[in-house]
Amino acid sequence: MEKLVLIYQKQIMTQEIELKKLKVTRSKIYYRTEQKVLPKYIKDLPYIYAITPTYTRLEQKAELTRLSQTLLHIPNFHWIVIEDATTKTELVTKFLKNSGLNYTHLNALTPKHYKLEEKDPNWLKPRGVLQRNAGLEWIVTNQNSKSNGVIYFMDDDNTYSLKLFDEIRFTEKVSVWPVGLSGGLRFESPIVTNNEVTNWFVFWKPERPFPMDMAGFAINLKFFLQYPEARFSLRVQRGYQESTLLSQLHVKLNDLEPKANDCKEILVWHTRTEKTKLKNEDKLKLKYGHGSDLSIEV
Ligand code: UGA
Ligand code: MN
Repeated sequence: MEKLVLIYQKQIMTQEIELKKLKVTRSKIYYRTEQKVLPKYIKDLPYIYAITPTYTRLEQKAELTRLSQTLLHIPNFHWIVIEDATTKTELVTKFLKNSGLNYTHLNALTPKHYKLEEKDPNWLKPRGVLQRNAGLEWIVTNQNSKSNGVIYFMDDDNTYSLKLFDEIRFTEKVSVWPVGLSGGLRFESPIVTNNEVTNWFVFWKPERPFPMDMAGFAINLKFFLQYPEARFSLRVQRGYQESTLLSQLHVKLNDLEPKANDCKEILVWHTRTEKTKLKNEDKLKLKYGHGSDLSIEV
């Protein structure tokens, strides 16, 4: 009898331990879905308004997942996501809802004749133009010159260091910094002499007024609101989007504020994701009569 009691007691103990473990896991899951993990709002800290164009493709959710999980670490951050689509898709709508981020979800379709075709080289037509303009429109309509903040154009496939955001948050007019893996070089960068931008380290089209990538500059919100009509354009030469916008803000070279340790540090990379080939889906269909389960979102 005593032996039995001992055995039962032992069993109860192990079960209690298991139960405790389960409770811990449950509270962790709750924690994550509620997204209470992060510092979200710090009083008096300027906001970052990030404008991200995005479009439907196989890799979209992966890109958005990677990007959003970086963004979750940034306090006082507002993500403006603009889909290149006639209507907002279910995928992005659900994704943003569960992201834990402060966001605005918009859509703006690029007209068909401005879209890249499958066979076109990727530099033929500009991407994200109307979407970024829709983001700017939202800012102009919803923010006023009392808001403290900065505007940053974040493509959905680049790689961003958290350090970058600490620096660009305090932009007075327009800040600039190098972009890694850009322009066919290890990096492209403003050239800084005595804390001032004096020239550009680029190979491609150095004659542009502002020869830099979209990921390489940020604009103070109040400053932008002095030129609320400033927009990107579908009608300018390739590589001239950045210059087009900044020219409308009447900034000169010596207005530019160098960030990232006087432009000696790379804090953002122009990474590009390889296009996935679904070569075995068709083979699977031939062999088994069906491909992968289309009701599973990828
Ligand atoms: C380079 C620059 O880094 C971009 O800032 C610039 O917009 C682009 O070239 C251009 O030529 O217009 P790249 O990596 O070649 O970037 O371009 P993507 O990353 O394919 O597209 C830039 C942004 O536009 C992304 O956020 C992407 O999701 C979006 N996009 C792309 C659309 O909204 N619609 C499209 O049809 C394609
Ligand atoms: Mn890209």
